[in-house]
Amino acid sequence: MYRIGQEEIDAITRVIKSRDLFKINGGAKECMHFEEELKEKLGVKYALLMTSGSAALTSALIGMGVGPGDEVIVPAYTYIATAIAVTSTGAVPVIAEADESLTLDPDDFEKKISSHTKAVIPVHIQGFPCDMDRIRAIAKKHGVFVLEDACQSDGGSYKGKRLGTIGDAGAFSFNFFKVITSGEGGALVTDDRTIYERGLIYHDSSAIAYFGNQLDGISEAQFCGTEFRVSEFTGAIMREQLKKLDPILADLRRNKRYLMDKLGDVYGFIKSNDIDGDCGTTLPFFFDTEKEALAFKAKADEAGIGGTRPIDTGKHVYSNWTPIMEKRGAFNPKFDPFKFEENQGLQTDYSADMCKKTLDLLSRAVYVGVNPDLDEAGLDAMAAKLR
Ligand SMILES: Cc1ncc(COP(=O)(O)O)c(C=O)c1O
Repeated sequence: MYRIGQEEIDAITRVIKSRDLFKINGGAKECMHFEEELKEKLGVKYALLMTSGSAALTSALIGMGVGPGDEVIVPAYTYIATAIAVTSTGAVPVIAEADESLTLDPDDFEKKISSHTKAVIPVHIQGFPCDMDRIRAIAKKHGVFVLEDACQSDGGSYKGKRLGTIGDAGAFSFNFFKVITSGEGGALVTDDRTIYERGLIYHDSSAIAYFGNQLDGISEAQFCGTEFRVSEFTGAIMREQLKKLDPILADLRRNKRYLMDKLGDVYGFIKSNDIDGDCGTTLPFFFDTEKEALAFKAKADEAGIGGTRPIDTGKHVYSNWTPIMEKRGAFNPKFDPFKFEENQGLQTDYSADMCKKTLDLLSRAVYVGVNPDLDEAGLDAMAAKLR
């Protein structure tokens, strides 16, 4: 969370005073307005606000028709939620290496494509944009859907286009740790009418036909999905947060750039696929050896700055995705994609050292968080300590 205050308090007050807390028939229609405002900001045709980034990823995959018998390629460095979204559909995740940008390695993505590959999920981790030109070209060549996991990169961009709007669909998270937040929340965006219609039905499946006119103009037949609907509180807070998105990003980017300029003669940084579109949340130092990374982290901790090695971020590293590694895809074995007949023989031979390149890169990087509200004096003091 970066900035939250009186505007959000006023928005919540507005919802309570309206006494319309329900998204669909509500007089205030905060969620509906948010979806319209998000579409306009991102330049997409469809947007669905829902409970989480996981919900948005899963709904998008369902919209792409992903299911049993399908492989979905995910990077070895992403939060476990990306892989779990795949198993939620009955498909299985295939794990591919990250490259020097710490995002999906396009070469390994292409190597992992098989006749079963239905989709790929490039993840703009820590606000670092993926190499979307190459990923899209490879996906197009092989007829694979691209779902951008923009959960850690709300508002970021790649070559001038907003992250989440470059592939066939994009998923955002608004949980507490994201660039903009309502505590929990997420959104699916797409220009694809079919993905939108299926995502709409799937994410609000019990209420869709009952309340309002949600099914007007929808040609997909209603099917059973789940319930990822949010209340008007989420919509109201997110409308205020959306207004703050670009100012937050501008300040993060300015401060990150300032620190990189001040430190560039001493340190190397993770390669960026588009430093201008990078969200600026993280200053990613990169070292030749793990020993140097550990020494730097120890010094940064000592100086009160604090550093995090991505290798130490638990469920962001594939080798720590216990239920995936141990192939427990559901509580009930009959619902477990790893046990489905259709999924036998797919690329699920997981092991802790299967993506050695990713593990090596992650062990040599150290993140220092960027504060958008730090002024020049504060940045100078930080840069002096980091030197
Ligand atoms: C890369 C990534 N994907 C997906 C998610 C899931 O988002 P949520 O927690 O909103 O379900 C997260 C959340 O931290 C994430 O970091």
